[in-house]
Amino acid sequence: MTTVETNSVSADIAPTAASSGNAATAKFTSNRVSADTSPERLAAIATDVLGAFAKIIEKHGVTYPEYRVLKQWLIDVGEYGEWPLWLDVFVEHNVEEVAYRGHRGSKGTIEGPYYVADTKRLPATCTLPMRADEEGTRLVFSGQVRDLEGKPLRGATVEIWHADSQGYYSHFATNTPDGILRGTVEVDDDGRFDITTVRPAPYQIPTDGPTGWFIEKAGWHPWRPAHLHLMVKAPGKRPITTQLYFDGGEWVSNDVASAVKPELILRPEADADGIERVTYNFDLDPAS
Ligand code: DHB
Ligand code: FE
Repeated sequence: MTTVETNSVSADIAPTAASSGNAATAKFTSNRVSADTSPERLAAIATDVLGAFAKIIEKHGVTYPEYRVLKQWLIDVGEYGEWPLWLDVFVEHNVEEVAYRGHRGSKGTIEGPYYVADTKRLPATCTLPMRADEEGTRLVFSGQVRDLEGKPLRGATVEIWHADSQGYYSHFATNTPDGILRGTVEVDDDGRFDITTVRPAPYQIPTDGPTGWFIEKAGWHPWRPAHLHLMVKAPGKRPITTQLYFDGGEWVSNDVASAVKPELILRPEADADGIERVTYNFDLDPAS
């Protein structure tokens, strides 16, 4: 088993909105993005965005004080580095649904702000890096990566990342050692994997920053159900990014990020020794 030493002093310091937000922003901006949007398409989308603003302002009679509060809040979201959090919670699910329209293989859902590329490569049967005394129910997550005809895909990788039993992600929360509860698993020749980890806790959007203020003022809740994140890739296949949730878990039917789908629910069964086991297979579409 791979273990990572915990610094027991920092482990007691709860992460703040600004610390996880700024880490998510730094990760996102470290890699400049681009899209091949034509000027005509940009103009058409921008016209509709501004038109939607116009309709909302008109419909609700938005006042000058409200307009100024919006301006202040937008500035605050940027200063706390929370744009990756806010956008991935409230907007990404729509983009994902459109991007995977007509996709026939396993369902995907949002990536969220906490993916890290190039994590530790692990063999098909493995235990994720974790603290020496990692808390949480042991979970063995097994399955097979296949094409749409059910043929095993050797050479596939299953990248997995998830929160710890307190709901915190490594690399983004200051109380977690880098690298824990993440890995890039190389499937065996039969496309199979068998990953030992711990069950994550539900994730709470940090409540001490502008995303949290917004949710609280609107009377909404800041919770995502407990989930595993996966990115599954195989040569010649369209990669999928997905998440898996736990049957009966809190917030499964009420996810703040609207990212739960019925196909994404796991039903683990506990052994006599208390270890939970669950199987889930990934079927990949051909790359277009
Ligand atoms: C956010 C966090 C997540 O863990 C996730 O899966 C999606 C979104 C967020 O804070 O925006
Ligand atoms: Fe997440």
